[in-house]
Amino acid sequence: MCGIIGYIGHRNIHPTILKGLERLEYRGYDSAGIAWLDSGIRVYKKAGKVHDLAALIAQEKLNSHIGIGHTRWATHGVPNDTNAHPHLSASGKLAIIHNGIIENYSILKQELLSKGYIFKSDTDTEVLINFIEDVQLCNNCSLEEAVRLALNKVVGAYGIVIISQDHPNTLIGARKSSPLVLGIGKDEFFIASDATPILEYTDRVIYLNDYEIAVIKDGMLFLNDIKNVPITPYIQKLEIQLEAIEKGGFEHFMLKEIFEQPTSITDCMRGRLDIPHKTIKLGGIEAHMDQLVHAPKITILACGTSWLAGMVAEYFLEELCRIPVEVQYASEFRYRNPIIQPGEIMLAISQSGETADTLAAIELAQAQGATVLGICNVVGSSIARATQAGIYTHAGPEIGVASTKAFTAQLTVLMLLALSLAQRRKTITSSKFEEIITELASIPDKVKAMLQHASKLKELANLFKSATNFLYLGRGYNYPVALEGALKLKELSYIHAEGYPAAEMKHGPIALIDEDMPVVFIATKDRIYEKIISNIQEVKARKGKIIAIVTQGDEHVKQLVDHIIEVPATHEALMPIVSVIPLQLLAYYIAVEKGCNVDQPRNLAKSVTVE
Ligand code: G6P
Repeated sequence: MCGIIGYIGHRNIHPTILKGLERLEYRGYDSAGIAWLDSGIRVYKKAGKVHDLAALIAQEKLNSHIGIGHTRWATHGVPNDTNAHPHLSASGKLAIIHNGIIENYSILKQELLSKGYIFKSDTDTEVLINFIEDVQLCNNCSLEEAVRLALNKVVGAYGIVIISQDHPNTLIGARKSSPLVLGIGKDEFFIASDATPILEYTDRVIYLNDYEIAVIKDGMLFLNDIKNVPITPYIQKLEIQLEAIEKGGFEHFMLKEIFEQPTSITDCMRGRLDIPHKTIKLGGIEAHMDQLVHAPKITILACGTSWLAGMVAEYFLEELCRIPVEVQYASEFRYRNPIIQPGEIMLAISQSGETADTLAAIELAQAQGATVLGICNVVGSSIARATQAGIYTHAGPEIGVASTKAFTAQLTVLMLLALSLAQRRKTITSSKFEEIITELASIPDKVKAMLQHASKLKELANLFKSATNFLYLGRGYNYPVALEGALKLKELSYIHAEGYPAAEMKHGPIALIDEDMPVVFIATKDRIYEKIISNIQEVKARKGKIIAIVTQGDEHVKQLVDHIIEVPATHEALMPIVSVIPLQLLAYYIAVEKGCNVDQPRNLAKSVTVE
């Protein structure tokens, strides 16, 4: 949700900021802007993508060593040139970029309007920079002090970076509920929403905490909290490699990430699953394992695709560990008055580790005394730090806005957790434990085998690209997979798609079925296979066009449906990791066929840091 980058150092900011914005574009992409200092502050901004901004400033003589850039996902005000960031203060001497929402902006705006301030944009951000300027004028204080005093009056979320015409050697960044990472290079500093634009220059970073303000002044870093208490910076080493955030020869990040899954699943089991000794080690949460073993209930908190991973886990955690599990949308949970039992454990699942609703749900649960464990992909992210302990999925950076490899990594980690817990709770026999871990170890190869059939999905995409609706049906473990398949299709190709439990179809969606309705069944062999066959018959009888995802060698379903995609056989609880692959590919290829922007679907953002 908005990508921000600030730079001060010896480089020319033109390539540094623009390249940084390209790397951050997956966070938001409806407009982009840049500001730099030479004799004054110069601002260029434009609705559209970063390449539109690059074209706008192509002829500019840009030779500055301090600047800020922003790529936007609109909250306040439509995406146009005026609402794009950076925003200037009334005097034109301060410029700001902002990710987040200032909730009390209208009160602040009224105050400023009454003092004669005039606003050009509809944004909360322009209010904030004018408020800071006004605080400085009224208090006759330093810029740092004005930022601090102003932020003490601000309600809401912000990751901000500010430059000032009067302080050409100063860059200021501050955060509350929106991520901010500080990169420390040799005689240079970066401040960005995440580490992707920093990585090629330095691997030394500081993740800012809420209410911290970083002031880089004359080559020195000063870190204080909002009450002006100095903070000792904790410098961490980034472990990500540059190749991980590049396309590596693939046409899109999403395709690269789909094809990375055999590796990412292997990586998330590495050092955790020990087949010869039949053990599972989850170091990050070891200290909480006893608590988990005795938990009366587990509640999973997540959003989007992470929520769907939670849904699959609900099935296998209950099945294998015999613990009641509830899966909650974090956005709903945070505004309920949840009943949290003593000893209950919360699991927060998030790829980015920055989703605002998930963070708020964690805070609510913790305030009521719950232990919250995190399952995150991004190391050092806000959720990873807010939770008491956690497990990283180690899937590597996921740049494509539609989540793919993070989902299969989440399922893998959740399965490791379920197996480890079941073993300790003695709710699984050793032969079943052995059977599932052996199968789990073979999943990367099965995913690889599946990927070799990508061209079949491409053919299907060509056949169905003009459909206006799709239905995805599954039962048991494959029901959440049906939901994920439908989600992938709608977010990438803008085709309306609905996921449903196959047996529930007869209570409504069956009315939609005619010869123009493509229906994707995930009908792999499991304990309710026979039941889903009946559901296939019901759709066939109404002339729906059926695409079935089936277990390799299934001749029976072949007779009933229009198209079949075979997936390698595996344990039913592991099947979602395999059966989701053709659905990811189908959505990908349909979107490509339709000419949609696969990596940056309209209106979406990778990391949703606002509610
Ligand atoms: C956004 C992304 C989804 C993601 C969801 C939850 O909507 O586009 O791909 O599943 O946020 O994000 P998280 O980072 O918490 O998993």
